[in-house]
Amino acid sequence: MKKSFLLFLVLLTALVPVRADEGMWLPLLISSRIADMRAKGCRLTAEDIYSVNQASLKDAVVRFGGGCTGEVVSPDGLLFTNHHCGYGQIQQHSTVEHDYLKDGFWAMSRAEELPNPGLTVSFLQSMEDVTERVLKGYKPSMTNGQRDSVVQANSRILTESINNPAKGIRSTVEGLYYANQYFLFVYKIYSDVRLVGAPPSSIGKFGGDTDNWMWPRHTGDFSIFRIYADKNNEPAEYSKDNVPYKPKRYFTISRKGVKEGDFTLVYGCPGTTKEYVTSDEVRYTGEVSDPEKIALRTMRLDIQKKYMSQDQAVRIQYSSKNANVSNAWKKWQGEAKGLARRKTVESKQEFEARFRKWAENNEYKGLLEEISALYEQRNPYFRAQEYYNETVSTIELLAFASRIYATLEQGRPVDALTEAFFKDYYQPIDEEAFVAMMGAFDKQLSADFKPAYHAQKLAQYGSLEAWRNDVFARSVFTDKAKVLKLTKADLPKLEADPAYEMYKAYNQWYRKDLQPVVSRLGQQISLANRRYMKAQMEFEPNKDFYPDANRTLRVSYGQVAGYKPSDAIYYSPVSTLQGIIEKDNPDIFDYNIPQTLRDIYAEGGHDDQPVCFLATNHTSGGNSGSPVLNADGQLIGINFDRVWEGTMSDLAFDPDFCRNISLDIRYLLFVVEKIGHANWLLDEMTFAD
Ligand code: ARG
Ligand code: GLU
Repeated sequence: MKKSFLLFLVLLTALVPVRADEGMWLPLLISSRIADMRAKGCRLTAEDIYSVNQASLKDAVVRFGGGCTGEVVSPDGLLFTNHHCGYGQIQQHSTVEHDYLKDGFWAMSRAEELPNPGLTVSFLQSMEDVTERVLKGYKPSMTNGQRDSVVQANSRILTESINNPAKGIRSTVEGLYYANQYFLFVYKIYSDVRLVGAPPSSIGKFGGDTDNWMWPRHTGDFSIFRIYADKNNEPAEYSKDNVPYKPKRYFTISRKGVKEGDFTLVYGCPGTTKEYVTSDEVRYTGEVSDPEKIALRTMRLDIQKKYMSQDQAVRIQYSSKNANVSNAWKKWQGEAKGLARRKTVESKQEFEARFRKWAENNEYKGLLEEISALYEQRNPYFRAQEYYNETVSTIELLAFASRIYATLEQGRPVDALTEAFFKDYYQPIDEEAFVAMMGAFDKQLSADFKPAYHAQKLAQYGSLEAWRNDVFARSVFTDKAKVLKLTKADLPKLEADPAYEMYKAYNQWYRKDLQPVVSRLGQQISLANRRYMKAQMEFEPNKDFYPDANRTLRVSYGQVAGYKPSDAIYYSPVSTLQGIIEKDNPDIFDYNIPQTLRDIYAEGGHDDQPVCFLATNHTSGGNSGSPVLNADGQLIGINFDRVWEGTMSDLAFDPDFCRNISLDIRYLLFVVEKIGHANWLLDEMTFAD
């Protein structure tokens, strides 16, 4: 009796789903979350995570390049990030003789590490709430414009007293919670960052766009860099005299592995979220913007795919373009579906009804109506802008014409640009896309939201096809030899080039008729949202609000967990080498693994080699490359994606569907050792076990 009751209890705890954890918390304020984190298995203190007085985990995290995160993993400045984050650098060093994208790259000594001018990593030195200082001199009687001036002047005084370009110190003041609070972020930026290792793309990009945003996933999405400093460990431009950077802190690596329910912490720089906007914005995103952009991209992707499948050379030319188009395309599908599934518009409306009641007798009365009216005014212009971005400006010939024109105008040579363009240009794709994109632009927008030029040209040619044929027949920009001969003296002549003329007509309309309206109304929406954010915090005084993502450093915590994407399917959270072998197919580009990996597998004993895992951390674009840590702050993985069914987490987090995807650190070690034979790198890492 007693025994079966105990068993019942055990079963009960196993069945109660662990709630996933929404939130991207500011490291400085992590003390407000630490009790919850520890209740969920974390053994760290707030000071372990973020401290200005002593080295803490934050000192091993960097913002990598423009849009990713990275982590320091050795006392000699060794750095991990994603393969897709280092892709540009790996590509830059690749030539036909040394195709590092295809074959991978492994420095076998420090002397072989490759410099990357322009690439930087930024360490967060400190962050601080400076709201009072930034608003010094502000009076409630001031206009919004006057408030902005006060904020800008005070911020400049603050940052100028700290910035020190010679020492790589740069500070920024960021308005968080829709600029209800201001935080000062001080960064130290290192600019000698060398490429150390990268797996072949058939590992680092395994699954390609077929598996992108998907589970089960088997991508070895990592690359390895090293930070260099001058003799005093200070930031310096590349020099052969620079030495490996000595970090304040680097991550210890755990090889113990993960299992369902284990605590996970992602420490990185998520880009943009909008968790506190009204139902108006969610409805526009989920019901208008996403579906329309998806439809436009589907057309483009179909055209690209048709030609890519017919010709291997075209497939190579368009693989990177195709990846770019399809990345957001797939994300938006998950977002629109996810918002509809969890009825985000309805639940926001229900919240807004309660809010409205509360606001009846306070200063926020009418605020929601004001916001709705602003969106109503803005949306048609914003929609036209999105159409322009997804149609006219995706015609490659027009974009090329504008870039060449600008380059000539600046008196710079056009040969490199021209070579690069034609290397990856297949005119039949562009011609077919021209008709499809201009057709959609024509059909979906009303006359008031199209430039006069558009109707004029259509009337003149009678059809999209005739218009297209003339543009491609007469434009100089389809002819590489002719473009290479262009000089500044040709500029007046280019004004009449049909591709340049077309680019210019639409662009001027965009800049004159759309942009100013969208930006004016956008500013008003931001201001209204500032009040709405403040109001939400007053309405729910006991809720712990995290600020929307804005590329600043954040902590997300959760646990390793699978999910149920649809009826009768459950995805378990750990993938293995076995799955790579199941997918392996020499005839399918995305699934064609290197022969060495097949050979290693054939040796036996590697079936259970872990590759990727799922967890419930709240992440977004920009979290790529982020360290994934266990309860003791040891490195267990590298974040690189989310599952598509959960991408609405940028607007609304759903614990049942939102999962981040990480590379299991043990797969990185496996690849470095067995594929790269770069064991010298393992020697400088510290392992927990
Ligand atoms: N979905 C990931 C992100 O948003 C990976 C993108 C790169 N990979 C790709 N197959 N396109 O960045
Ligand atoms: N791959 C994304 C990035 O580059 C991360 C995926 C996401 O949006 O969560 O940041």
